[in-house]
Amino acid sequence: MSRIAYVNGRYLPQHQAAVHVEDRGYQFADGVYEVVAARHGTLVDAEAHLDRLEYSLAELHIAMGRSRRALEFVIGETMRRNRVREGIVYIQMTRGVARRDHAFPVTSRTALVVMARSQKPPSRQVVENGLKVITTPDNRWGRCDIKSVSLLANVLVKQQAREAGAQEGWMVRPDGTVSEGSSTNAWIVDGEGKLVTRDVGKAILAGITRRAVLALAEREKLEIVERPFTVAEAKEAREAFMTSTSAQVSPVVQIDDSVIANGKPGHLTRLLVEIYDNYMRTAGG
Ligand code: PDD
Repeated sequence: MSRIAYVNGRYLPQHQAAVHVEDRGYQFADGVYEVVAARHGTLVDAEAHLDRLEYSLAELHIAMGRSRRALEFVIGETMRRNRVREGIVYIQMTRGVARRDHAFPVTSRTALVVMARSQKPPSRQVVENGLKVITTPDNRWGRCDIKSVSLLANVLVKQQAREAGAQEGWMVRPDGTVSEGSSTNAWIVDGEGKLVTRDVGKAILAGITRRAVLALAEREKLEIVERPFTVAEAKEAREAFMTSTSAQVSPVVQIDDSVIANGKPGHLTRLLVEIYDNYMRTAGG
């Protein structure tokens, strides 16, 4: 079965699906996106993802161009046509097609692409053994709260991690604190056993998984502090992990050359892996 993509009003086999060469997403990265997980055919935290999509659009003064219900219909239809029950949906909106000029075009229609594909959750091996991360300078712009398709700095970090035999790169700000991973939020359990993740603001993306894990941790009565942490603190941490729509909760057992604790995923991390997985199974939507 060939995969079907929705592009500006049409459902097309992916090899025929294309955007205009003067789409501003292609020329200027003038657009935003979302990645949403599906479990048992239902989207997980769909409302929160669509709220964040609307936030990103509004911050860039890009019109949504259709109602939320219409967008939800297209997403559901794209999942159905691709028979996606466990997987991810990718939604991209750009400022549309216009003759190349940096300033906003006077008239352009917001372009929409939706894709859906089946994808398995992180493997048992990742959960049992954990992942390695490297640290590297955060070279991004000042509005990391916007989920912009301008991901070049993130792409370079992920590639650097791969070449170093690691799975993620944690980006470090000039003050020595970790902002986040190239496509994940970063967490540690500090020396006092508190769960620590950076507070939201312009330095990071306000992850939807981050938010759900915070709520679940609170329900478990875990001590939580939303604050920046340094690379030195992370290397001395009792536990470390990362969160995102596709990584869910993934344990981190090594940061650069430093092994975290005994090199195995920590106790709280394992608890959060379980309860978040359970949440995805049951709370989808
Ligand atoms: N990445 N930080 C960054 C820079 C991200 O790109 C992402 C998501 C996250 C986690 O956000 P969420 O929990 O809402 O997925 C944090 C997506 C999955 C991606 O680019 O594929």
